[in-house]
Amino acid sequence: MINTDYALVVTGANGNLASHFNRKVLQQGYNLILLYHNNRQRLDELLMECASRIRLIRTDFASADDLKRQFADVFTETGWIPRGLFHTTTARSSDFQPLADSPEATWEYVIDVNIKGTFRLLKALIPYFRKYNYGKIVLMGSNVSRIGLPRGSAYSLSKAAMGNLSRCLATEEGHNNIFINTISPGPIKMDDSHFSESYRKFREEYYKERIREIPLQRCASVEDIFGLAWFLLSENNSYITGEEFYITGGKL
Ligand SMILES: NC(=O)c1ccc[n+]([C@@H]2O[C@H](COP(=O)([O-])OP(=O)(O)OC[C@H]3O[C@@H](n4cnc5c(N)ncnc54)[C@H](OP(=O)(O)O)[C@@H]3O)[C@@H](O)[C@H]2O)c1
Repeated sequence: MINTDYALVVTGANGNLASHFNRKVLQQGYNLILLYHNNRQRLDELLMECASRIRLIRTDFASADDLKRQFADVFTETGWIPRGLFHTTTARSSDFQPLADSPEATWEYVIDVNIKGTFRLLKALIPYFRKYNYGKIVLMGSNVSRIGLPRGSAYSLSKAAMGNLSRCLATEEGHNNIFINTISPGPIKMDDSHFSESYRKFREEYYKERIREIPLQRCASVEDIFGLAWFLLSENNSYITGEEFYITGGKL
């Protein structure tokens, strides 16, 4: 049985992957601290089912100035003990242009949210993991970190940063019993109805091309990702840290 005070922190909590993860983790008995940005429809559905075991934090990772205080408020109010972090938040390149044609602001935004935002998040949360001498962290990267993403160089660069961050932090925080790994999938089958038409079209074309290259001949499902994320975040993971795992159906 899981201690009823244990909590996991999930970012991008209303997103495709996180919303699947949230449901599975609630079934396992953890409390959830869910960080969301603008959209929260899926979180509202979850709250209707299980409000006492969920706390929401609204934050924009482009600034996230208040994150330290927001975590402190939740931990003080609930008495929950943070055990892990599943970081799925991502900004995407919105202009789909070659680097040479990209405005600097596009790069800045993606880097601010995905890289600096991850820094802000980890700065705010690691002191709690240190305090309890326990923490399991999973960052979401992407296979684009090794194959690149034409017309999405800022996103691709920011995803590559996750694997390297894991390697650094695993070294820095191992003696505090804090583990950190990155999961870097290829395309995941997801509900894209909330994306703009132009972004949907970009993804559709991109996915069509990618599936031709995947030996298993399909995208990953959210369940395919959950299996590994759950293991890495669980107490069963007693020796794996600093790694980047590619889930790509055999595509190198
Ligand atoms: N889906 C794929 O094919 C795929 C493939 C490889 C890797 N990945 C990685 O897997 C992770 C999850 O992907 P997903 O498909 O579940 O993504 P998703 O559904 O697009 O979710 C991303 C989440 O990030 C939030 N977000 C965006 N900008 C933010 C900001 N400035 N501050 C705070 N939160 C912000 C969004 O909230 P709002 O909607 O409210 O803005 C959303 O909930 C991502 O890190 C992605 O890079 C995905």
